[in-house]
Amino acid sequence: MSEWWKKSVVYQVYPLSFNDSNNDGVGDLKGIEEKLPYLSKLGIDVVWLNPIFESPLVDNGYDISDYEKILPKYGTMDDFLSLLKEAHKLNIKIILDLVVNHTSNEHRWFKESCKGKENPYSDYYIWKDPREDGSEPNNWGSTFGGSAWEYVPSRGQYYLHCFAKEQPDLNWDNPKVRQSIYKMMTKWFELGIDGFRMDVISLISKNPEYPNAPKEVPYTKSYYVGASNGPKVHEYLHEMNEKVLSEYDVMTVGETPNTTSKQALLYTNPNRKELDMVFHFDHMHLDYGKYGKFSDIKFKMSDLRNVLSKWQKDLAEGWNALYWSNHDQPRAVTRFGNDEKYRDKSAKMLATLLHFMKGTPYIYEGEEIGMKNVPFDSLNDYRDIETKYFIEDLRNNSEPEEYIRKCVYLKSRDNARTPMPWNGNEKEGYGFSNGKPWIKYSPDNKNINVEDALKNPNSIFYYYQKLIKLRKSMAIITEGDFKLLNKDDSDVFSYVREMEEKKLVVICSFASKKVNFELPKELVKHISNSRLIISNYDDSNLELPQKLPLCLRPFESLAYYIEE
Ligand code: GLC
Repeated sequence: MSEWWKKSVVYQVYPLSFNDSNNDGVGDLKGIEEKLPYLSKLGIDVVWLNPIFESPLVDNGYDISDYEKILPKYGTMDDFLSLLKEAHKLNIKIILDLVVNHTSNEHRWFKESCKGKENPYSDYYIWKDPREDGSEPNNWGSTFGGSAWEYVPSRGQYYLHCFAKEQPDLNWDNPKVRQSIYKMMTKWFELGIDGFRMDVISLISKNPEYPNAPKEVPYTKSYYVGASNGPKVHEYLHEMNEKVLSEYDVMTVGETPNTTSKQALLYTNPNRKELDMVFHFDHMHLDYGKYGKFSDIKFKMSDLRNVLSKWQKDLAEGWNALYWSNHDQPRAVTRFGNDEKYRDKSAKMLATLLHFMKGTPYIYEGEEIGMKNVPFDSLNDYRDIETKYFIEDLRNNSEPEEYIRKCVYLKSRDNARTPMPWNGNEKEGYGFSNGKPWIKYSPDNKNINVEDALKNPNSIFYYYQKLIKLRKSMAIITEGDFKLLNKDDSDVFSYVREMEEKKLVVICSFASKKVNFELPKELVKHISNSRLIISNYDDSNLELPQKLPLCLRPFESLAYYIEE
């Protein structure tokens, strides 16, 4: 296969919030199709759509009740086929979200499975008898709160749900489950889709012992003890590859919580024939606190540098999926940059750092215009199941409301889920919808929106466009080896990509003040052969200055190409 995904940039569309064509307050497939020219202008190669399938939307579509039907709010199968066709005409590929660790409790398989042990779907899910005292089979908690086990009187048993109780886990040890999934995947590939993003795929194989989690493990993640990177996960993914994926020229990206870079290599080493790349969480964990994600801690740049460079090194034989944000994370510029005075500069700096590392970059909708976290007026404005649980949990722990509000503002998934602002006009629903949106608009839309970005030749949008164009014209961006520079600098993250005699030197400041940067000696001698290919300050020197050290301005980023 051609490995086209190595040269691609992926754009993630959150269908609920992208563009509403029929004014019911919810984005839809026709709305996405309308915006294909915008995506084409940005230059991206692939669109990843979050789940578009039939679902009761307990977890915004990650609870699927029918894998083969389109959620009516999003449109029809014809709408999907039309979107796919129009995207392909513009050379944009479409990948869908494969959510097969669990289904919705409204899926037919689950309804049948609940009926009893004789039912043909009986073993489609993970059922366990109560302990002698009638309690849950073990002490695992679920991601969205409460026990990971739910009792069903009709079976006199508990079923496992690592997420909400409306998201029962499928039993991958049952070959019929795997066959049903492969059949469904094949149907979508036959319709012409270009790949899958695989939801929490590192959780599909469970430890048959179902061991209790040690007390010190945070409750909402305690199921990791027996559910992440389980004994057969690689066997199953290899089987999936053999039976389905290898038949098509497609891309796969696995979402792999609780996975180290060494384990990630097992998923992505091409010789093993499993997945093309995986999303890891190590850089997402740098600002976690005692309640996990919901904290007001700020990441340390040196930790970020250690984590990202470690993944670059450890996945040299595999492939990285590069991202700052997605529908589960706050906005990148708020979290890793400076979303006030230096919003423009820091958004561009972050883009530079990410897009020049080795791997496939992912842009989350709105990142390309520098959208930032959303200060909702009231905690009641939040819609997300995870956020609601944490508000309750922090309240139960008597945390002050001010602290809760701060953590939610910094970390809620809803920060990334407000509708795309296509223009700055509130009366027009910011170009998203003429109906009442399913979630409030960001109050920043007046100043941060697509229309303004497209009018300004120096906007973040055009900066992303330029980065994407560079990727297309310079092989070193895809293929060059990664080497970290200046490991001890406290403000500047710098690295070099190397291919044959060529080098791409990337220098990114995370400081909101001016800082000096010492170029490593081995690079100084190449100065005369260098060319500045992109910078977030338009008056940056075109050649690496003779005068060293470099004085970097706040959040300045520079990328020099050296050809010998
Ligand atoms: C993944 C999804 C997230 C969802 C969870 C359960 O992490 O990205 O949105 O809530 O899986 O499916």
